[in-house]
Amino acid sequence: METGSLIAALFILLSAVLSSCVCTIDGLQIDPLVYEEQLLWVSGASGHVNTYRIPLITFTPKGSLLAFAEGRKSSSADVGAKFIAVRRSTDKGDTWSPTSFIINDGMNPDGLNLGSVVVDEEVGSVILIYSMCFHLYHCGPASTMMVESTDDGLSWSSPRNLSVQLGVQAFAPGPGFGIQKRHEPGKGRLVVCGHGTIEGDGVFCILSDDHGENWYYGAMMKSIPYNQKKKPQDFNPDECQPVEMPDGSILINVRNQNNYHCRCRIVMRSLDGGLTLPIDELFFDEMLVDPAVAAGMLQKNGVLYFTNPSNEQNRVNLTLRWSLTNGSSWENNAVQIWAGQSGYSSITSLDTGSVEDQKFIFIIYEKGHKDYDETISFVKVHLYGGL
Ligand SMILES: *[C@@H]1O[C@H](CO)[C@@H](O)[C@H](O)[C@H]1NC(C)=O
Ligand SMILES: *[C@@H]1O[C@H](CO)[C@@H](O)[C@H](O)[C@H]1NC(C)=O
Ligand SMILES: *[C@@H]1O[C@H](CO)[C@@H](O)[C@H](O)[C@H]1NC(C)=O
Repeated sequence: METGSLIAALFILLSAVLSSCVCTIDGLQIDPLVYEEQLLWVSGASGHVNTYRIPLITFTPKGSLLAFAEGRKSSSADVGAKFIAVRRSTDKGDTWSPTSFIINDGMNPDGLNLGSVVVDEEVGSVILIYSMCFHLYHCGPASTMMVESTDDGLSWSSPRNLSVQLGVQAFAPGPGFGIQKRHEPGKGRLVVCGHGTIEGDGVFCILSDDHGENWYYGAMMKSIPYNQKKKPQDFNPDECQPVEMPDGSILINVRNQNNYHCRCRIVMRSLDGGLTLPIDELFFDEMLVDPAVAAGMLQKNGVLYFTNPSNEQNRVNLTLRWSLTNGSSWENNAVQIWAGQSGYSSITSLDTGSVEDQKFIFIIYEKGHKDYDETISFVKVHLYGGL
């Protein structure tokens, strides 16, 4: 063999080895360690807010972290008037700005509900999508709203009403993050998935191919019976979290509202960039036991991470799991983040190219002693046991 073709052969061999590995740093084993934890919001502690709920967290294109929550003004109920509260960290979660309220829905009887945050890395913007009047409680119609920041989360546009393009059917994004496709198919597309009305439930994704200017409905997986009152054990896919896998498919982890088939998570997959959700790709992940709640998921360097209150009946036992097999199995040594009351959670990570950023993921979740809506907590997790 000539030297040239030998080098070529070695190169092919090397790339084969590299592309088949789960690319963690230097062969270190994943061994998550809660590195630091702090409460970002405490319900009842501020004069204007009764309860903080529905935490979201995202990276920004400049390497900051943004945390969001609903500030529910007068009760803990899903309906009622609210703020969107935001805090920002420019030092990888060590310190956080004071809370700013970026949206105030006034006295709306069925105000805003969060929501999905999606980062457009191609133009450097952060987009937040939320609903108004989702429950049609003394108001109507429902609207899907969007605000955008082009300065790393410091300031936000005034709200835009996406229902002008999408129509006024109820759509509750997330809660969690939307994605921008990094791979084909649909590279660059924004994909925000959520669920429909109480009766017309199911998973629906809205898509934008022009950085959030125009939105249209893509994939859907409707509940059964659709648009009819549900019974226990009906098929009722609800709140959901999409992630892009290394092969360009979109995996969506879904709340199984009526415990169809199991008290565990529903998993769906789109192979065409969020246009369809084939039924053949759907499965129930019996490992991910769940009390019907919004859960967190993240794909980082070929490893899939998942957080939920890991209990069939109650929102307790916030647990972090990880999968080295694209979600077809989970490692046995799950890490308990909080044994007590715990509700919704969301995960993010930074990827500014530094080795440091490969070591951490960031979790935000509802945490309490008597009730899970007492506080919203931020956790910085070292993936390699602090090494
Ligand atoms: C949003 O637009 C829809 C469709 O035009 C309209 O019916 C709805 O009232 C608007 N919502 C808000 C909050 O302005
Ligand atoms: C907490 O989660 C772990 C992992 O799923 C499980 O083994 C354990 O039984 C759970 N504990 C409670 C009290 O739910
Ligand atoms: C996970 O997906 C990647 C990308 O498609 C693939 O290279 C890898 O072999 C998969 N891993 C497993 C264990 O299936």
